[in-house]
Amino acid sequence: MFGKSSSKNKKILLSGVKPTGQAHIGNYFGAMKQFVDLQNSGEYECYFFIADYHALNLIQDPAEMRKLTEELVLDFLAIGLDPKKVTIFKQSDISSHTELAWIFDTIVTMPYLMRAHAFKDAEAKDKEINVGTFNYPVLMAADILLYNTDVVPVGQDQKQHVEYARDIALKFNHIFKKEIFKLPEPLILNAVATVPGIDGRKMSKSYSNTIPLFATREQISKAVMSIVTDSGGPENGGIPANVYAIHKLFKTEAELKPLYEANKGKYKALKDALVEDIDAFIKPMRDRRAELAKDTKIVINVLADAAKKANKIAQIKLEEAKEALGVI
Ligand code: ADP
Ligand code: TRP
Repeated sequence: MFGKSSSKNKKILLSGVKPTGQAHIGNYFGAMKQFVDLQNSGEYECYFFIADYHALNLIQDPAEMRKLTEELVLDFLAIGLDPKKVTIFKQSDISSHTELAWIFDTIVTMPYLMRAHAFKDAEAKDKEINVGTFNYPVLMAADILLYNTDVVPVGQDQKQHVEYARDIALKFNHIFKKEIFKLPEPLILNAVATVPGIDGRKMSKSYSNTIPLFATREQISKAVMSIVTDSGGPENGGIPANVYAIHKLFKTEAELKPLYEANKGKYKALKDALVEDIDAFIKPMRDRRAELAKDTKIVINVLADAAKKANKIAQIKLEEAKEALGVI
């Protein structure tokens, strides 16, 4: 049972995911699976949240926002996050996040934010970038620093954002001459830093190259059959590299070796085997998710309980910061 006394000496872990589309196996192996492993290690007091205010930079349709938020909470529960052990909350339920972000806005400079990779990428695509996208790292710093976070498990692409949170904590503590904010560390697993998509590029919602995490067998089959096997020259001795790279997530290399030896050049047979293995892996989570979804109140209840707890903790840190500023 998750209780105050048992969690007193634990390190604090926090991570967020944006509700911007259907979760895929890249999200799972790159980030979400670690959330469950870290929860189960018992070493951390964990906070996982739905970063809906970050998603607002992309999702500007109320029905879509509600649906994607609800789906992500169900995804969290279906992969094995347990609301009795960890706090699963929604960013917009905790107004301290945006309040602290404003405070940070007043000490963070524009040239510093202009150096962020995500800003540079966004600006390269579209000069009319919104202020929310520009300020993205500031809100993310507030997310992290409000909870006295020690570690932030994320994919490689988020490393710079955690460094921004550290810099902002240091700057605040220095300006206001008080150790208010703790410096967080990123936690990144190298083995799964980048899961490839069905076209061989990084699997990403924005490239439409995903295998959805809760895909039906038909959807898995459709995605696997479209894995690119013949672009980029002859395959390694009849081994389709893109098929193998995804297969490795579901079976050990020792298990795969005889299969790929026996089926050199037989792409259809190898893809059939991959469909089988992905389906066997996903089925229990898919079934669990369908079962959870029958309870129409589950998402509301999980978020309501968590909001109470997260609000209390965030409020304490925000008050400490406001006192240091001299506004209370
Ligand atoms: P997407 O690129 O599909 O929009 P997100 O930006 O929502 O994914 O990422 C959510 C989490 O999943 C982040 O921690 C991110 O680092 C991780 N992640 C996303 N895609 C991959 C991938 N292809 N391989 C490994 N991790 C990934
Ligand atoms: N920026 C993260 C992503 O795109 C999501 C996120 C928002 C986050 N706030 C966070 C992750 C705080 C870790 C900690 O995936």
